[in-house]
Amino acid sequence: MARKVMPEPFRIKMVEPVTIPDRSQREKALEAGHFNMFGLRAADVYIDLLTDSGTGAMSKYQWAALLKGDEAYAGADSFFALKESVKDILGFDYVIPCHQGRATENVLFGTMVKAGDRIPFNMPFDTTRGHIFNVGAEPVDCIIDEAYIPELELPFKGNADPAKIEQAIRTYGKERIPLIMITVTNNSGGGQPVSLENIKAVSSVAKSHGIPLFLDAARMAENAYFIKTREEACKGMTVAEILKAMMDCVDGITCSAKKDPLVNIGGMICCRTEEMYHRLLPRVIMFEGFATYGGLAGRDLEALAVGLREMVDEQYLAHRISQVGYLGDLLEEGGVPFVKPAGGHAIFIDAKAFLPHIPQKYYPADVLSVEVYREGAIRGIGLGALAFATKDEKTGELVMPKMELYRLAINRRTYTNSHMEYVAQSIVDVYKRRESIKYGMVIDYAPPAKGLEHFLARLRPVSL
Ligand code: F0G
Repeated sequence: MARKVMPEPFRIKMVEPVTIPDRSQREKALEAGHFNMFGLRAADVYIDLLTDSGTGAMSKYQWAALLKGDEAYAGADSFFALKESVKDILGFDYVIPCHQGRATENVLFGTMVKAGDRIPFNMPFDTTRGHIFNVGAEPVDCIIDEAYIPELELPFKGNADPAKIEQAIRTYGKERIPLIMITVTNNSGGGQPVSLENIKAVSSVAKSHGIPLFLDAARMAENAYFIKTREEACKGMTVAEILKAMMDCVDGITCSAKKDPLVNIGGMICCRTEEMYHRLLPRVIMFEGFATYGGLAGRDLEALAVGLREMVDEQYLAHRISQVGYLGDLLEEGGVPFVKPAGGHAIFIDAKAFLPHIPQKYYPADVLSVEVYREGAIRGIGLGALAFATKDEKTGELVMPKMELYRLAINRRTYTNSHMEYVAQSIVDVYKRRESIKYGMVIDYAPPAKGLEHFLARLRPVSL
């Protein structure tokens, strides 16, 4: 029996009609999109779980706020509305709007990091990794070892290992470590949370060496909700208090506002000191826009100012986390292997365990993407060898990532629990016929773009 699921804490006021393409339309769409989920037209997808980024539904309060947008180039009221929300919800005095998360990475790493530097992380997201490489530096993964065991249930599998961070500081020297960073929740490792205790522990390591600590805070409210429900010491606190406590440990954050802050576009850097703020601004002005709009319209800033307040609503969060968990429970009943426990924003299916007969070099996570689309017109995304394999500089051989995952990211306030039941049933049906899936994928064409090939690759099935 599946766990009793929480009903949606919202009414639907406006509908977006979607159609379910039939089998032959799906085959044509796969061919036309070169078997890459990024190549599909959204109209050919019934339930689109490609990403939870910018795909959520805004509230009526956010839509109303759009009309208040002040489009002044400098010093707009909308900027001050955002600044006030940031101070109230996160406690930072300084905010720099940017057009989305990766833009904040460009500004932060482009300013603070130089070639040869190392950035200790629990685990960076792929654009974050890309921006670190882009300035000639390298991330150092310092996540706990248990994060790499998909079937292992732990409450805080996103935690960094403070001993690994200490080790990185000893190995590279603190002159080469301009900042330390923690992603909350850890998207690349299954949407797993980081405990407040762990953030505090990393913060004290960072402080003892005088190194700034930043959060990649895209999913900070979901992380705070997990802390409330899983960390004994925080049981009596509200999510809003926990979120502030997380922020109190760090010098700043980068944030893709397209996730927890509930907007369709936007990002921001927040920091505590005027010195850091002024250091970051020149690059914002060069790449994003003036300091008070950072590539966003005034109306986007207004929607974000409201979204930041809504993201800590505990009923909203309780439903969101229980909806993802419900999908996990239904998959579990059907025997489907996925990263345990269920993540905050997504379920990450273990494609190696789902399709053990397909070698990783034939991209089983991407075969699974195709089969789930075939089955239910559902779009998820492969996060395995196609996205993360690297070439060994010396031998030229492909180095495979430890995990081969297929992600179903749940859009915020967009799909109902009944949609989750349809998704689970479709995937369980693929699981039942998994042994008959006897093909792999090869890359027909990929543009030269280090680390970004998977977005644009053309794939072709080959029988095995
Ligand atoms: N950091 C994390 C943890 C992310 O998950 C993302 C985006 C970014 C930074 C970059 O933000 O997209 O606004 O530029 N993740 C999306 C995803 C794309 O599908 O997981 P962005």
